[in-house]
Amino acid sequence: MCGIVGYIGPKQATPLLIEGLKRLEYRGYDSAGVAVYDGESLETRRAAGKIVKLEGALAADPVTGKVGIAHTRWATHGPPTERNAHPHLSSDDSVAVVHNGIIENADVLRKQLTALGHTFRSDTDTETISHLVQELYDGSLEEAVIGALRKVEGTFGIAVVSSRDPQKIVAARKGSPLLIGVGDGEYFLASDASAILAHTRQVVYLDDGDLAVLTPDGYKVMDINASPIRRSVERIEWDLEAIERGGFDHFMLKEIFEQPTTVGNTMRGRLILEDGTSKLGGINMSHEQLMNIDNVVITACGTSWHSALIGEMMIEDFARIPTEVEYASEFRYRNPIVTPRTLCIVISQSGETADTLAAMREAKRRGAHTLGFVNVVGSTIAREDDGGIYLHAGPEIGVASTKAFTSQVIALALFALKLGRKRTLSVMRGREIAQALDALPKQIQSILDQAAAIEKIADSYKDAHNFLYLGRGYNFPAALEGALKLKEISYIHAEGYPAAEMKHGPIALIDESMPVVFIAPHDAVFDKIVSNIQEVKARHGKTIVITSRDEPALEGLIDHEIRIPETVDMLTPVLASIPLQLLAYYIAVKRGANVDQPRNLAKSVTVE
Ligand code: AGP
Repeated sequence: MCGIVGYIGPKQATPLLIEGLKRLEYRGYDSAGVAVYDGESLETRRAAGKIVKLEGALAADPVTGKVGIAHTRWATHGPPTERNAHPHLSSDDSVAVVHNGIIENADVLRKQLTALGHTFRSDTDTETISHLVQELYDGSLEEAVIGALRKVEGTFGIAVVSSRDPQKIVAARKGSPLLIGVGDGEYFLASDASAILAHTRQVVYLDDGDLAVLTPDGYKVMDINASPIRRSVERIEWDLEAIERGGFDHFMLKEIFEQPTTVGNTMRGRLILEDGTSKLGGINMSHEQLMNIDNVVITACGTSWHSALIGEMMIEDFARIPTEVEYASEFRYRNPIVTPRTLCIVISQSGETADTLAAMREAKRRGAHTLGFVNVVGSTIAREDDGGIYLHAGPEIGVASTKAFTSQVIALALFALKLGRKRTLSVMRGREIAQALDALPKQIQSILDQAAAIEKIADSYKDAHNFLYLGRGYNFPAALEGALKLKEISYIHAEGYPAAEMKHGPIALIDESMPVVFIAPHDAVFDKIVSNIQEVKARHGKTIVITSRDEPALEGLIDHEIRIPETVDMLTPVLASIPLQLLAYYIAVKRGANVDQPRNLAKSVTVE
């Protein structure tokens, strides 16, 4: 989604702003811009397209100055053109604003401001803020911003600079993340810690309703009434390496290969092999609370929703608690049955997905206890939930989620194990599952060692127009996830189905040009899926079968086989997802697609 960077200090702002924007490229954007105070006035440079275009504009017409703000925009109001790129200036060019989020009453404000003589130069909702700040300025930039925000309805993370009060950046958030980077005699502002990590690890996360003023000498945080607020300085624990490609062609490939480590990190210090359970310090739930859960609702979007489906089966299987999974975007607008004895688990890599956050707030409002299974430390969901489990998968830069997915399934397994052992799961069964979890990192590595063979399979299918992914039981969500991976990065149409559903419709699509990926490890439903493979073969479909042992029943039915190790049924989707990720990756690369920044997609979707 859109990205914000700001700098104030003794150095030249422009190179730092551009560097920060580049670190945010992974989030997805379609135009970019900077505004820097050059000692006399605000200078803006903007460009449609990639940051390299903005660099071109800056090379042709450089700007110098030690205070500045910058932005990568993902178009919502108005097309991705230079005139719609942020920063947006006020009519008299004295105020520049960058904004993430949506101003819902922009049309009304635009009419009022136009009537007051302001001239609009873009189609954006954001521009209303710069005009409002100009209109309300009376000697203090923060007071003008406070006045403007009182008139604005919607969501925002904003940064504002003004040539009339030039030694300041004023920032504010409501529904869109922002943090202050505390450097050595310099201060940064960013919507994501990656933007500033090269310069400081000390950050102050702003909460909704916070307003911050950064100057060359320090920063202060206040509320909308200008009353001071104390916010602690936190330390970012990951390294720059984590957000660099480290010799891989793409972040996605790097992240796929990191999974033996990241899956291990999700389990570290949490798995208790001897007792067949887990220790989860962050969930903040007493034994009584865990015993008193009547039902579980898991809510999420996209890939996180797929891991939720696996979690549903695990919780019902291990702990016998009725569990349902809801798309966060649907949950937030219906009238779900949630009571104080409902446990609501929200799953999100970014911790910022607008629909998921809204669903969590709705569940809280209805009295549920909320747990966030989140990867990004300090993200909004992690800050607002009642407790949770951090995934510890490290920053995920590739837009297509890979390592976060496997870590989400592991976190859900750890939680289900804990809940199960408190209720109906025997110690023997608990131990078996715990040992299977413990074995996963090595098993994942053994699948990654087959990457070259999977790349070869990708060669045969790079020109396909459609794909089907079929799985049963625990591997139905894996089929959905495999199809999502392929479509989002290769733009090939792909559908995931429970294998037995094929005969209720999708079978009509099968012919010699239809590749069908079967996820068929040797689990409880293996025999059932063999008949589905036969049905595809009988109609000359091409079969790519992910399985776990030599099976006479599969003879003559497989065009391409990918072998994964054996594990307990509930963990098979973790292993199956590795070849699915690799297959999608190699097909996309062979089609020349921009794997890390697929078209139209953003890493974290902070709008509805
Ligand atoms: C995954 O590959 C996607 N790009 C997307 O579906 C993502 O999982 C979804 O937007 C939810 O994001 P979150 O986990 O950060 O909440």
